[in-house]
Amino acid sequence: MAEYILEMKDIVKSFYGITVLRGVNFGVRPGEVHVLLGENGAGKSTLMKILSGVYKADSGDILIDGEKATVRDPAHSLALGIGMVYQELSLVPEVSVVENIWLGNLPANKMKFVDWEAAKKKTKQIFDELGIDIDINAKTSSYDLGIQQLIEIFRVISKDVKIVILDEPTSSLTDVEVEKLFHIISELKKQGISFVYITHKLEEVFEIGDRVTVLRDGSTIGSTIENIGETTEDDLVRMMVGRTIDEQYPKVSSVTPEVMLEARGVSDGKNFFDVSFALHKGEVLGVAGLVGSGRSNLARALFGLRRLTKGEIIYKGKRYTPKNPSHAIENRFGLITKDRKDGLLLHMPIRTNICVSKKDGLVKGGFRLRGNENKEAEKYIKLLNIDASSPGQKARDLSGGNQQKVAVARWICNGTELFIMDEPTRGVDVGARVEVYNLINEITANGGAVLMISSDMPELLGISDNIMVMKKGRVTAMLESGECTQELILEKAAGSEIK
Ligand SMILES: Nc1ncnc2c1ncn2[C@@H]1O[C@H](COP(=O)(O)OP(=O)(O)OP(=O)(O)O)[C@@H](O)[C@H]1O
Ligand SMILES: [Mg+2]
Repeated sequence: MAEYILEMKDIVKSFYGITVLRGVNFGVRPGEVHVLLGENGAGKSTLMKILSGVYKADSGDILIDGEKATVRDPAHSLALGIGMVYQELSLVPEVSVVENIWLGNLPANKMKFVDWEAAKKKTKQIFDELGIDIDINAKTSSYDLGIQQLIEIFRVISKDVKIVILDEPTSSLTDVEVEKLFHIISELKKQGISFVYITHKLEEVFEIGDRVTVLRDGSTIGSTIENIGETTEDDLVRMMVGRTIDEQYPKVSSVTPEVMLEARGVSDGKNFFDVSFALHKGEVLGVAGLVGSGRSNLARALFGLRRLTKGEIIYKGKRYTPKNPSHAIENRFGLITKDRKDGLLLHMPIRTNICVSKKDGLVKGGFRLRGNENKEAEKYIKLLNIDASSPGQKARDLSGGNQQKVAVARWICNGTELFIMDEPTRGVDVGARVEVYNLINEITANGGAVLMISSDMPELLGISDNIMVMKKGRVTAMLESGECTQELILEKAAGSEIK
């Protein structure tokens, strides 16, 4: 057997004259988990999309089992044994879970009819083995992003592939689901399946990785790290960003005794029940919970995207009934969703995305002033270090993490006071995270408040003043972050469900 099941040699790729991959070499061994690291915009997804046939390299070679291969398109890539789980989900929300998994790949029975029963049985079996309780006949859109991410992963691994590319597979998963995913990966590794694993969560590198390659600005930094045991998180950060980061969680507490928003026994009748909490001026209230804890729906309800069936909300001392998002925005609420596609106008320029809900100084006689918008956008591009060629660049052409920064910038730009953030650093690299945290510090120092849903435990503990834990729609604990631990949060969030 060849040492490498897959090799990419001297891969070069540019978009509109800008080179994003500058001669990358990359090799995958049979049965290994090869971690691909790099800052937002380093070129990780582009490199993998060349492998999966989404893009064509300008030059360079791909070798599969030692033989030169031309990947024509994604279907061809799959036929070559390469399966890719994309960073942005590609499920069809309107069809059932089982249909999504088997779409275009249904098992046929002897008579060449589509064998739905076999498909259902196999799907059910996979989910059962993983201990995931989901109705495979239900509409995919009825599940939240974490489950959808798992569905997307199963869709790829259920096919006959030799190499699985996982582009930030855990960005919407909580620890318990991540454990499940890691379990599947180790099982498949035993069968000789290889993985390319892209992540911004460095602790995962040590848990799941066999070797690591770091990309920076379209080039590999050093050679592939053969032995993960000999490297540290600090080394990896230095390779990725070219400097050390002293403080990964630069928390400055600005919490005051003044209550900004109080929820009293609110329910939506379906996803969360009898939830009470107080969010103070200057506070970051973290919300912990597993997939299905109801916390994202709570966030949506506060923003007027779901109806409350019970309970009341007091906002700035007055009774407040969420009506719809524009009403929420008028009241200086802002919502940063974890699904970037919801929060961004992907086909519009960065400028429009950042300035969309701000009028002051940007609109005259009903027209938007492009020059002023450009200036405003440039301010945030600089402040958040957004990797973009100009404010006119379309949001869809930004790397994932940079899209997230644009989503945050939009709310800061329009004077939001109450930020509801659902996984604010999803897909954001180590350096840029610090920038997001600094922004959160700035928001709270200026008297704003943040309700921060996060599945990232170190982030929850590092950035929140207090942490509310939810389980199956109910609040199970309210903890001061200074005096709580990851274990305690997990216990309150999962209880007996932890293996
Ligand atoms: N279709 C495209 N058109 C123009 N530019 C693109 C396109 N796709 C990617 N780019 C640019 O190529 C560079 C690399 O992007 P890529 O998505 O590969 O980064 P990444 O390493 O996956 O980052 P992230 O961690 O944020 O996902 C970025 O500067 C990005 O803006
Ligand atoms: Mg990417």
